[in-house]
Amino acid sequence: MNKKIALIMVIITSMALAQNGKQVFETYCWGCHHQSAVAFGPSFMQIASKRSAEEIQAMITDPESISKILGYKRNAMPAFRLTSQELEAITAYILSFKPKSDVIQTTEKKAK
Ligand code: HEC
Repeated sequence: MNKKIALIMVIITSMALAQNGKQVFETYCWGCHHQSAVAFGPSFMQIASKRSAEEIQAMITDPESISKILGYKRNAMPAFRLTSQELEAITAYILSFKPKSDVIQTTEKKAK
């Protein structure tokens, strides 16, 4: 019973996060990133399929150094100063575009 409630809480929280994340996306990212189509930057589907939450957040806050680590020769993305809530929300939103089956794997293998 308690486990069920806990699970429901987790689901509600992640839904709320994804909703806020959509707002952050529409406010800051939409001009250059789209959910599934490549725009100026890669699509969220592409990003979600190969990056961890840490990589995504690092890229948002410090693209100048992180874009090189991610393999880009030049950095065209500006840095964003988001609140930690916005950062969590946009990260959850981006990762929600990942195919469900390997969501857990990526979060776990991150500590490399
Ligand atoms: C002015 C255009 C622009 C805006 C606005 C922008 N980006 Fe980007 N983004 C890029 C480009 C271009 C790249 C490719 C790397 C580079 O050139 O720096 C990129 C790369 C990324 C990457 C890494 C891609 C990878 O290889 O995994 C992430 C994550 C990312 N952006 C997230 C965001 C988020 C989240 C926002 C909104 C808060 C945002 N971007 C806003 C242009 C933009």
